[in-house]
Amino acid sequence: MPNEPLPCTHRRILLRRLRVDDLMAFQAYRCDPAVGRFQGWQVMSDAEARAFLTDVNAAALLQPGRWSQIAIALASDESLIGDIGLCVAEDGREAEIGFTLALGAQGQGLAREAVTAALRLVFAQTVVERIVAITDTRNLPSLRLLERLGMEKIRTQQVVFQGEPCTEDVFAMTRGRADSEPG
Ligand SMILES: CC(C)(COP(=O)(O)OP(=O)(O)OC[C@H]1O[C@@H](n2cnc3c(N)ncnc32)[C@H](O)[C@@H]1OP(=O)(O)O)[C@@H](O)C(=O)NCCC(=O)NCCS
Repeated sequence: MPNEPLPCTHRRILLRRLRVDDLMAFQAYRCDPAVGRFQGWQVMSDAEARAFLTDVNAAALLQPGRWSQIAIALASDESLIGDIGLCVAEDGREAEIGFTLALGAQGQGLAREAVTAALRLVFAQTVVERIVAITDTRNLPSLRLLERLGMEKIRTQQVVFQGEPCTEDVFAMTRGRADSEPG
């Protein structure tokens, strides 16, 4: 594929395309209620997940107006430990990032390495000026991660999420900042 930015390695992490042979690992964390509690995605059946992995494996990455889903894998053995969603806005100026790590991979600084690599990848591959991440204010691991990444809280918003009123913090990283943060 021309200009294919994946795979890319950062410290202990490999960002790569999701693959159909990730199905078991993908379903193991995507079906974990503790992992999905604050996420916008719905749990998929195995058949739906297989079709999803097939689609995202072949899809062009970072196309404006469309979500790209990529794998977080361990650099040591390429095994899947989570995934990252990236969406460049229609006008190409801003992108949004979302991230998920299997429970067993959390608490080791691996999400920080993966999200750092993804932020750098988006700035390197597109002309976006800033990348935002939106998190429920009750999602403390996510808040801690965004702060450790050096992202700046730009606003707080009230939304209805899955039928429940909740409060979200919106964080942003501007171009140039991602390279200056240690990650
Ligand atoms: C949000 C999420 C990705 C954060 O994962 P995480 O593993 O806590 O994040 P980090 O990679 O930053 O790891 C930090 C933790 O690892 C610890 N750690 C251990 N070794 C470390 C190392 N070598 N380097 C850095 N941190 C290390 C840190 O002390 C920290 O623990 P603490 O938060 O208890 O202080 C994870 O909780 C998750 O997937 N949640 C479910 C999905 C979700 O809600 N996503 C966010 C929606 S946008």
